[in-house]
Amino acid sequence: MSRLISPSILSADFNNLGKDIRMINESEADWIHFDVMDGVFVPNISFGLPVIQHVKKVATKPLDVHLMIVNPDPFIKPFRESGADILTVHYEVCKHLHRTVGAIHEEGMRAGVCLNPHTPVHLLEDIINDVDMVLLMSVNPGFGGQKFIQNTLQKIVRLKRLIEEKGANVLIEIDGGVNLETGKLLFDAGADVLVAGSFIFGATDPMLTIHQLKNV
Ligand code: DX5
Ligand code: ZN
Repeated sequence: MSRLISPSILSADFNNLGKDIRMINESEADWIHFDVMDGVFVPNISFGLPVIQHVKKVATKPLDVHLMIVNPDPFIKPFRESGADILTVHYEVCKHLHRTVGAIHEEGMRAGVCLNPHTPVHLLEDIINDVDMVLLMSVNPGFGGQKFIQNTLQKIVRLKRLIEEKGANVLIEIDGGVNLETGKLLFDAGADVLVAGSFIFGATDPMLTIHQLKNV
């Protein structure tokens, strides 16, 4: 089991984004998480390709891009060209998820599939051997700073069981409401990667907070 931290820049200071990226570079964080929102799949609009392109120029860690958009297929190549290393799409919007995962791999990225809180793990049984990561939303997507959904812990147990049954090689990433208390529960339940936004960027010492989360 890995214990990776992927800070979400959704809660970063966009007036000083370079400073926050340099902090992540110097911290124990493993990836940088980008919450891309189109205002259709989720009731919010965040940012897109230009932000990824500019962060890529200064980032020293892999870019972990979470697409909360209704039509990801046409953007697979553009996100790769902008610097994405991991590209995660939502199960709920992909009519041909096997084809989409293949297209992400064709572009040389790792492929993730994301489940909203209401979407059951068993729906992944015929794609689990094709993806590199499963992202379980522990809040309803669209906003940072929301309350952790406890059922996520049971979902991790079910997902780990599916991964073991299928002999798959898949990371489990969790996104939403992550702090020291939920982070410990999540790592103990078997999560590999924790996404945290407000807990890190709202802290007085974000770098220390990342260290504490990684070692919780
Ligand atoms: C929701 C976003 C958030 C964000 C993390 O759509 O995906 O989950 O990454 O937000 P916090 O850590 O502030 O709950
Ligand atoms: Zn996210």
